[in-house]
Amino acid sequence: MPVLRLDRMLSSQGIAARKEIKELISKGLVTVNGGHVRNPSLKIDTDRDTVCVNGVPVKYREHVYIMMNKPAGVISASDDPREKTVIDLLPPKLKRPGLFPAGRLDRDTEGFLLITDDGTFAHNILSPRKHVSKQYYVVIDSPLTPEEIERFENGLVIDGGITCLPAKLRVLEGGVSSGGARVMVTIHEGKYHQIKRMFKALGHEVIYLKRTAMGGLHLDDSLKPGEARELTDEEKELIVKS
Ligand code: URA
Repeated sequence: MPVLRLDRMLSSQGIAARKEIKELISKGLVTVNGGHVRNPSLKIDTDRDTVCVNGVPVKYREHVYIMMNKPAGVISASDDPREKTVIDLLPPKLKRPGLFPAGRLDRDTEGFLLITDDGTFAHNILSPRKHVSKQYYVVIDSPLTPEEIERFENGLVIDGGITCLPAKLRVLEGGVSSGGARVMVTIHEGKYHQIKRMFKALGHEVIYLKRTAMGGLHLDDSLKPGEARELTDEEKELIVKS
């Protein structure tokens, strides 16, 4: 039963900036349980009170969990003075303070990026000890040998002498016109540039990389690159139940 000041509660939900919220309240555009209020510091019980702005109820959520189909060309950061970030791509209705990408995809990597304002959840899914799986669709420049696939599955040693946890690799039917290969790879950790480094260690170059699942949750393929939507509670749980 969180109890919050009315203006804080509204700004935490991304309704508007604190200053604009104060104006909305002073203009009488905010109601609490049907009555107009003019006191921004009024205490709101987020479980019991119904707050409306311009007649539209505000459904309070402590945290949000957003799936984005990240396009190539944007960076996985909350803000940047020069570059376009994944947060810049969110539509206004999904924006709220404190959002950040839980884990990074390289600028040229596409696919499933989780954006949240819940630091504890992000920490849990990113911690190598939790072993939340991440699945990638990868196009590489040259075919793999059975021995190389085995090395992937036995725990590949990459640059710097780092041994990766065993990964699953499945070669997809139909090659690529360049003579390379299309594969699905599942890893249980998230080292910096891990997929590219794993293939590089075997002498292959990654031409295209897309994350297709986190834990038991697959990228919603109705999301076009750059689009995002909130996860349901069940979908959020699927990420940790891989
Ligand atoms: N591995 C990479 O090399 N890059 C990514 O963006 C994600 C995983």
